Amino acid sequence: MQVVYFVNSGTEANELAMLMARLYSGNLGMIALRNAYHVGRSNTIGLTALNTLKYPIPPGEIPHVVNPDPYSGIFGSNTALYAKDVQDHIDFGSSGKVAGFIAAIQAGGVCIADEVQTGFGRTGGHYWCFQTQGVIPDIVTMAKGIGNGLPLGAVVTTPEIASVMALKIQLNTFGGNLVCSVGGLVVLRVIDKQKRQAHYAVVGSPLIGRLRALQERHDKLGVLVGKGGLHGNVFRIKPPMRLSKDDADFLVDALDYAMSKL
Ligand SMILES: Cc1ncc(COP(=O)(O)O)c(C=O)c1O
Repeated sequence: MQVVYFVNSGTEANELAMLMARLYSGNLGMIALRNAYHVGRSNTIGLTALNTLKYPIPPGEIPHVVNPDPYSGIFGSNTALYAKDVQDHIDFGSSGKVAGFIAAIQAGGVCIADEVQTGFGRTGGHYWCFQTQGVIPDIVTMAKGIGNGLPLGAVVTTPEIASVMALKIQLNTFGGNLVCSVGGLVVLRVIDKQKRQAHYAVVGSPLIGRLRALQERHDKLGVLVGKGGLHGNVFRIKPPMRLSKDDADFLVDALDYAMSKL
């Protein structure tokens, strides 16, 4: 992947990624996951599968396949059944060809990884979350962590896919503006110099260990530990990269106390 388009937000990045996928493939349909969260503008509202974010407008041709969730998914950890659900949606819920998958690749579609929350070392062990999934996407969208608060986003893809955008004028007044771009560069340097990703792994691993212990103690409440999307009515934690070991311990103690009172 050698081509980067700078934009102003994650939503814009996902809108652009969808446009590229559709132009490149010549197909309209996109496959997204149930529980998917890619925000709710006129195109991304179709990708998102959480009713709290959706207005009743036509969502586009976007079936939502079952979320492969080994914890509470209907097929447990049976990957073949989840894959069959994707195939069924392509065969019976689309024209037989789709523009893209915001998770996997098949049927002529490109694979898009939305790293808006998970990129830039947030998962500790890897810089990008897709590296934990054994998949090399065709398009990666990023925002949030790229600017650490500045309105900056990006879409990264191959020259071949990006070539479809050369057919018309690309107009984005503030995309790639100097202030945010310099901010983005500084963020990259700080992540590197302060070894933030390694820090996340060092603080995150014991935190996950302690959360797993909570999972066993409060099993009726359903504590979900690991990487994943939104799971309905949950209290979800996304700790900042500066989280210290003491903060992590305090968090688990507070959660343990609160849960024991429920
Ligand atoms: C996974 C994911 N995709 C896309 C977005 C949209 O990003 P933005 O709020 O920068 O438009 C978000 C924001 O919450 C997100 O978490």
